[in-house]
Amino acid sequence: MAILSVEHLTKHFSLGRSLGAVLRRQPPSWIKPLEDMSFSIDEGEILGIVGESGCGKSTACNLIAKLDDPTSGNIVFDGENVTHLSKTALARYRAQVQLIFQDPFDSLNPRLKVFDIVAEAPRALKLWDEAEIARRVPEMLALVGLRPERYAQRYPHQLSGGERQRVGIASALIPEPRLVIADEPVSMLDVSIRADVMDLLRDLSARLKFSCLYVSHDLSILTHLCDRVMVMYLGQLVEVASAHDLVNSPRHPYTRALVAAVPVPDPTYRRQPVEIMGELAKPINPPSGCRFAPRCHLAMAQCSETPEMTWVAERHTVACHAVVA
Ligand SMILES: Nc1ncnc2c1ncn2[C@@H]1O[C@H](COP(=O)(O)OP(=O)(O)OP(=O)(O)O)[C@@H](O)[C@H]1O
Ligand SMILES: [Mg+2]
Repeated sequence: MAILSVEHLTKHFSLGRSLGAVLRRQPPSWIKPLEDMSFSIDEGEILGIVGESGCGKSTACNLIAKLDDPTSGNIVFDGENVTHLSKTALARYRAQVQLIFQDPFDSLNPRLKVFDIVAEAPRALKLWDEAEIARRVPEMLALVGLRPERYAQRYPHQLSGGERQRVGIASALIPEPRLVIADEPVSMLDVSIRADVMDLLRDLSARLKFSCLYVSHDLSILTHLCDRVMVMYLGQLVEVASAHDLVNSPRHPYTRALVAAVPVPDPTYRRQPVEIMGELAKPINPPSGCRFAPRCHLAMAQCSETPEMTWVAERHTVACHAVVA
């Protein structure tokens, strides 16, 4: 059963026009960071999003977390359309869909002790009385591997990066969300502790039974952690598959290049690099059709029309005219 379905989610920003551009009757410029994104997350599933910087990963997360409104499209959570919500319904949604942020220092209030940071969401959402909060916060701290008697009364600046991110995870999980959106939660952490934090998240998602949308620009992280992975290029989804299939039989030319770039532990093994032409484009006035076409060695006339997501195997879809032809 899907806990979240996103249907044709689209976000465009107008860049406005200078007076000169208005007088010259130039059309306004548009940034189009997200175009017609559709997918769903099953209950308990960890779904990854991978793609280069600026491809719209955070835009998608912010729309789903309802920090911003889409230009068009729908968000359906647990069978209910939540694209437009009243204030009370939004508060209820916020308890069920929680975010873990990239920068654990920036996202924790420096004036609050760990106990109060973790208690912040339940207090704001009026979930429980203080006695219940006093019982649940230490329990949550212990679950994320922070001994409450040692950490509850500390301030964020007295913690290491990894400990701060564990507090961030505790804050996100204490309202018992059904979906957790983790936007590059380990990219600011020391490489040596990244795996611990990811293992913790994976372990907790199985124990506490929440689904997780996990963003990274590093495919090797996602294949280690996720059930399925979605590949984005410049605001469009290009391929969705199980982590295993994506790495072992990538179909889209962009996914193939991503997979070929992942380092292999065996130093004697030489993987054939896959070439991508040109530089990463920005989503300003992007061309219609497949946005990867200008960099694609398989591009053909048909690519000026947007390719549909098409099934190529069980749990494996690809949007590419050349591959699906
Ligand atoms: N509020 C906004 N106004 C105008 N443009 C925006 C706005 N928010 C995002 N963008 C643009 O949308 C594009 C996608 O941004 P987004 O932050 O979603 O990318 P990302 O995939 O999360 O990148 P990164 O890996 O660097 O975090 C970028 O080109 C960005 O400049
Ligand atoms: Mg981002």
